[in-house]
Amino acid sequence: MSANCDIEFTLNGVKRQLSVPAGMSTLEMLRERLGLRGTKYACGEGECGACTILVDGLTLNSCLMFAVDCDGRELQTVEGVAASEVGARLRDAFVANGAVQCGFCTPGLMVQASHVIEHNPGAGAAEIRRGIEGNLCRCTGYKKIIEAIQAAEQKNG
Ligand code: FES
Ligand code: FES
Repeated sequence: MSANCDIEFTLNGVKRQLSVPAGMSTLEMLRERLGLRGTKYACGEGECGACTILVDGLTLNSCLMFAVDCDGRELQTVEGVAASEVGARLRDAFVANGAVQCGFCTPGLMVQASHVIEHNPGAGAAEIRRGIEGNLCRCTGYKKIIEAIQAAEQKNG
């Protein structure tokens, strides 16, 4: 049985304090302890990107990060991204461009795409493709996803 650790972090702009088991993943903490089910559990081993979140502004697979390592960090999940201006543009563009089929990859892709737009607002299709290469989608073939991200970029400013 593992001991619990007290951690403090910022989640979608709100300070949180939790006591978590040493072996718990950040993904499990988000979904099971905090009820944030937008971050998806799929492979559980860093291969698919469904669990992508932002940690201190960098994208990360939350299934690979221990919850204890959130201590002192700033996390943003798809719920936080969706509430932002970039997130709203992405949401509208994904729907308008038919970039959502089963939707399981969509939260991770929206987080990853928000990072691409924030850091490289004029990214072309090739750069977007490289930016989202860690996020697997079994349905769309990626074309519509890339078009949606480009559409969201064009609404910038
Ligand atoms: S569930 Fe984390 S990368 Fe697949
Ligand atoms: S829309 Fe189904 S996995 Fe991407």
